[in-house]
Amino acid sequence: MARQSATRKRKNEHLEFCMKQDVEFQTRDAWLDCVGFVHQAVPDVALSDIDLSTRFLGKRLDAPFLIGAMTGGTPEAGRVNRQLAEVAAEFGIGLALGSQRAMIEDSVAEKSFQVRDVAPDILLLGNIGIAQAAAMKSADVRDLIDHINADGINLHLNTAMEIFQHEGDRAPDKPWAAIRRLSKSLGRKLIVKETGCGISRETAMRLVECGVKTIDVAGVGGTSWVRVENLRRGGAPEGLEFFEEWGIPTAASLVELRNVKVSTIASGGLRTGLDLARSIALGAEIGSAALPTLRALGSGGKKGLRRWLESLFFGLKTTMALTGCRKVADLRKTPIVLADPLRDYALQRKVWR
Ligand SMILES: Cc1cc2nc3c(=O)[nH]c(=O)nc-3n(C[C@H](O)[C@H](O)[C@H](O)COP(=O)(O)O)c2cc1C
Repeated sequence: MARQSATRKRKNEHLEFCMKQDVEFQTRDAWLDCVGFVHQAVPDVALSDIDLSTRFLGKRLDAPFLIGAMTGGTPEAGRVNRQLAEVAAEFGIGLALGSQRAMIEDSVAEKSFQVRDVAPDILLLGNIGIAQAAAMKSADVRDLIDHINADGINLHLNTAMEIFQHEGDRAPDKPWAAIRRLSKSLGRKLIVKETGCGISRETAMRLVECGVKTIDVAGVGGTSWVRVENLRRGGAPEGLEFFEEWGIPTAASLVELRNVKVSTIASGGLRTGLDLARSIALGAEIGSAALPTLRALGSGGKKGLRRWLESLFFGLKTTMALTGCRKVADLRKTPIVLADPLRDYALQRKVWR
């Protein structure tokens, strides 16, 4: 009972802090502006010729985008999820739900994750943290997917956040064994994601070796979860503020994974259509953003979210028109030029070929 209400209180505070406070990285960004496209002056492709559709995890998306994992577990979170799902269905894009931990602790919370009645066909992902999943049977994790009729589940890694969260679970029990077991049981339905600190090549290679097929890099540049936890506790522990800026910038994480055989979702600080185009040019299959979608919904309701998505996709299409890309896959072949610090990082890490 006490755990249920702690989880609910935390989810409500996360929504409130993310809506009202400055929760993003303060001194570091995603390094996506280190990725330059080469302008093509004579247009081969008109805006109206551009096809943003793609296939991902067995579903067609009308644009290469997923609304990022955020919430669930409380009536307020349920309202947010339904609105996100309705707009995702209108745009033909995907939606990732927030942690289903609340559903494990209290079956009544399940309602807040049920969105299939308003979005029957969208790509829908459930969510659970590695600490909880490591303590669950694989069949019970599968039930989390089945109970809400999702297409798969995000297994989130949030080591830095857990260290700074007072009710945090700290280190999960035998995380690699859990990942191997889950990927064997769930196959392509398992997606492993960070929550704002990025994924390195070493970690990605070990994940692939465990059977993981899809990784969401969720790098530095957008929401800082150490910062959110420090704001909740009234400030960073003295002398430890710098961990709010910890991790691998999203563009660097995408470069880290470029030659790893895994399907990649780009997230962490994606804010414009140009950011989305840059992420795909670095090798991502699709992009995702969480905070701006929540804020667009919070300030302008579904209309606000529609406006934000229209601008995102107009930016993506314009970038494609100006680089002569007709299809999303063309973006992955279009020439790009890397600037420092990304270029220097890629050279030192020997990950740019
Ligand atoms: C309000 C809010 C709640 C979040 N809750 C979860 C969660 O339950 N599970 C998860 O995997 N990620 C969660 N995230 C992290 C996001 O999915 C994403 O990885 C991170 O915020 C970076 O993306 P952004 O910069 O676009 O916000 C949450 C993000 C926000 C803004």
